[in-house]
Amino acid sequence: MCGIVGYTGKRAAMPVLISGLKKLEYRGYDSAGIAVTSDDGILIRKQSGKVAGLAEIVEQEDGMLAEAHTGIAHTRWATHGPPTTLNAHPHEGNEGRVVLVHNGIIENHNDLRNRFKAQGHTFKSDTDSEVLAHLVESHYQGDLLEAVTAALKEVEGTYGITCMAKDEPGVLVVARSGSPIVIGLGDDETIVASDASAIITYTRQAIYLDDNDIARIEGSKVDIRSLDKGAVSRTPSEIDWSPGAAEKGGYEHYMLKEIFEQPEAISNTIRGRIDLNRGTAILSGLNLSPRELVAIQRLLIVGCGTSMNAGLIGEYAVEDFAAIPAEVEQAAEFRYRNPIVGSRDMVLAISQSGETADTLAAVREAVEKGSLVAALVNVVGSTIARETSRGIYLHAGPEISVASTKAFTSQVSTLLMIALKFARAHRLSREQGIKIAKEIERIPELVEAVLKTNDQISEVAAHYAHYNNAFFIGRGYMYPVALEGALKLKEISYIHAEGYHAAELKHGPIALLEESMPVIALLNEGPGQEKTLSNVAECKARSAPVLGVITEGDEEARAACDHVIEIPSCPQYSSVVPAAVALQLLSYHIARIRGCAIDQPRNLAKSVTVE
Ligand code: M6R
Repeated sequence: MCGIVGYTGKRAAMPVLISGLKKLEYRGYDSAGIAVTSDDGILIRKQSGKVAGLAEIVEQEDGMLAEAHTGIAHTRWATHGPPTTLNAHPHEGNEGRVVLVHNGIIENHNDLRNRFKAQGHTFKSDTDSEVLAHLVESHYQGDLLEAVTAALKEVEGTYGITCMAKDEPGVLVVARSGSPIVIGLGDDETIVASDASAIITYTRQAIYLDDNDIARIEGSKVDIRSLDKGAVSRTPSEIDWSPGAAEKGGYEHYMLKEIFEQPEAISNTIRGRIDLNRGTAILSGLNLSPRELVAIQRLLIVGCGTSMNAGLIGEYAVEDFAAIPAEVEQAAEFRYRNPIVGSRDMVLAISQSGETADTLAAVREAVEKGSLVAALVNVVGSTIARETSRGIYLHAGPEISVASTKAFTSQVSTLLMIALKFARAHRLSREQGIKIAKEIERIPELVEAVLKTNDQISEVAAHYAHYNNAFFIGRGYMYPVALEGALKLKEISYIHAEGYHAAELKHGPIALLEESMPVIALLNEGPGQEKTLSNVAECKARSAPVLGVITEGDEEARAACDHVIEIPSCPQYSSVVPAAVALQLLSYHIARIRGCAIDQPRNLAKSVTVE
């Protein structure tokens, strides 16, 4: 949540900072700001609204703002205080000698604020971050690293920060605890950011700070220490995303680009991980021998939002293929309800960003309870990835759009592989394993087929874009797809949408059916299809318009609906992916027709690093 960029080095800082903010805007976009330092002091500009508004102002300025070689910038998702210009970062200390940008939450900000108010400080904003700036400045005696170190020892909460001091132009001090900071190492320059997408234009060499790390950076000189242990050494790693991966590449929106990237993203996810000969999956990151796999008697899957929906498909697949119990739990619920985790359970955390606060806390709780913990993460070097010794990277490439698409289908593809791996150890024959493995390998081609129908889906979307409500229904594997379809539609089009098990409709929601309440039914072939067709008839009998996602050429299903979207014929466990892609395109086009801010839906942020 919120994006941070910092630069020190040979170039003019401002263009680097603005271009970094644009890359990070998906993390929050209610206000933005920039500060630069030079021998002439500190200059700050901030603005409520999106980064483009800030860019328009600062790009017209010359003088210090255009010439400074060191600066920090921030794009905000409001936690404390509304999204006004005054609450935008950077924030200064009481005397304007120190300035900082901050992600996270300072939990003892009220106590600190009261203490400083008693000393005569005045605050310009409602934010906890401004209190932190006052705290750092109160410790400042000419050495920013020492001041930040002392300040952070008084702080309760989470932070990723980048600070500058008026008397040390050219110096950045960064620190993290619970909110990521990546240091990009260039030639005679260093770029810091809250995630790698703001860095890859300049360098692929990066250091991911650990919690409690603090670093002083000047030009290309980076000194890292730990708040409690003194100097530490952190090995740089290579960011394997190409610079273009975080650009729109000619598409109108990141979401559309990422929808269309799915065949490649899923291919990258499954590449080298399917063993057709043995009919299993090679998931070396799990670091589990068949003997250890057999010992696992229950899988507990935790995640939030779309990642949780992917987990539900994993639950079906693990029980279906491996006949071992699997359960999905919303990560926040898992962390707070003192879950029962046995020695024969494995907890699997799913997170695209690897930074979601509740999922991270669930991981920590599971570790605390002595459970075997593994993670399914997309962002390399993210906190969840680093805190779990077992894990599988999705390799889906950067996902910029707030609405998750390619991460979801890569998560599902990976969960099918995990289910297959467990199943082969538990009960599945080689022949059955080979059959499933071949179907998993076919997923990218199934997605290609759906993408070819984009124009038809766009036409269908025009019939549904004017409604204010919608139901999504499905059974079995298609039930989580209904949940995900509804989530996608509501988050980007602001249409109120609910996902229901098709059988559940009769237990209450059917009361809402009328001609202004469309039903999107997952009607593709597989177990339960006949029953969902009956539910569709019940909807039609109550005048609800029905849009069916059906298997290509299924005339009976077509006849039952007002409109259809076709997906290729395949087993239901793999059909979840093309069906989800069809619903992504449907939501995308509906949101486009309604003129919504597709990549930056209101009130949302890409990674939710607060509770
Ligand atoms: O990064 P994570 O996968 O942990 O994020 C979890 C959710 O915040 C995320 O999936 C959210 O629901 C998406 N915006 C949905 O499109």
